[in-house]
Amino acid sequence: MKLTAWMALFAAMTVIAPAFADSPDGQQIFLHGNGAGAMPCAACHGVDADGNTSIGAPKLAGLSAGVIKSALANFAGGGGGNASMQYVAQALSPAEIDAVAAYLSSLK
Ligand code: HEC
Repeated sequence: MKLTAWMALFAAMTVIAPAFADSPDGQQIFLHGNGAGAMPCAACHGVDADGNTSIGAPKLAGLSAGVIKSALANFAGGGGGNASMQYVAQALSPAEIDAVAAYLSSLK
């Protein structure tokens, strides 16, 4: 590749990369985890976020974003008494929590 092409590629990366970091994809996190320690929510809460009674994972679809965010903050702070959720909540960044809360509140 020519130097100018490399420079164009580098310029494009510095513009695009922060845009991704600033707006994580809530559905992606829900289905596949955040790649940084948070397991896919769907593994326990179901791909449709309808919950899984056999492991005590409640339905999340349609909860308000505020309820989801405060539940995650509570888990991250050691409240709620569920070790898996505590671990997951601590692995999410604030932006990822916002994204996943927005995604879940958009479901029915
Ligand atoms: C290993 C299984 C597991 C994974 C993975 C998991 N959860 Fe949970 N989650 C649970 C269980 C079990 C509960 C119920 C905990 C309790 O009542 O103490 C719960 C509770 C919750 C609650 C509280 C709901 C309410 O009505 O009080 C929210 C919100 C939540 N999870 C969101 C998420 C999100 C978002 C993810 C993915 C980033 C996720 N969970 C991943 C098992 C899991």
